[in-house]
Amino acid sequence: MAKPLIAGNWKMHGTAAEAVALSRQLVENEQSFCVQMAIFPPTLHLGLVASELSGSSIALGAQNMSEYRSGAFTGEVSADMLKEAGCGYILVGHSERRTLFGEVDSTVADKFKAAQNSGLVPILCVGETLQQRQQGLTLEVVAEQINVVKEKVGIESLCHGVIAYEPVWAIGSGEVASPEQAQLVHGAIRELLGSSGIDTSLLYGGSVKASNAVELFAQRDIDGGLVGGASLEADEFLKIAQLMT
Ligand code: PGA
Repeated sequence: MAKPLIAGNWKMHGTAAEAVALSRQLVENEQSFCVQMAIFPPTLHLGLVASELSGSSIALGAQNMSEYRSGAFTGEVSADMLKEAGCGYILVGHSERRTLFGEVDSTVADKFKAAQNSGLVPILCVGETLQQRQQGLTLEVVAEQINVVKEKVGIESLCHGVIAYEPVWAIGSGEVASPEQAQLVHGAIRELLGSSGIDTSLLYGGSVKASNAVELFAQRDIDGGLVGGASLEADEFLKIAQLMT
């Protein structure tokens, strides 16, 4: 059985004080959910949030990292540094990294590998654009994004990570994929992973809210959510986690 996971991607939002307040609200109100919760604050706030989470069961993750271990890479942060800051998870290949910062599949694969080498669990984000969907290319695009990582790290390592299917057209748009659309892609991903992927957590992301989470989470191959906007409100995020249990 894949482990249920609800991940909150805060993106580039919030002051240090707001990050502390939000994590505190989550810790104070967390219940014994049978779901793993993880939050992904802006890099600069990781240390502060790590202190707030200490002793709680909420895990910490980062939104981006370098594919390199150390060296002259101005502005970058390594997997070891994130691990030292208290992170257990890392997002790799988020569509905003791919489209706004030019991350290509091979870089995403390098990051996935570097993350695992440092003991972080990578959450590989994949998904098609609206145009690709309209052209009927959804499954092909998603398979290619996953296969590049599989070729780099091997099927076993790939399956020890987490995969988040996030249709690009659903991210931040308020337009969520239907449960059927999401399950179709999740089922295809599970099939692609074969017997090694039975326990791999497959998350859905893209405009997840408490009001649409129940139907999504009821799908056979959806093991949790990667939540953006709705993770910035403690009550809403906790409600989504509760719906996964
Ligand atoms: P959203 O973002 O929930 O705001 O659509 C999801 C994501 O970018 O991971």
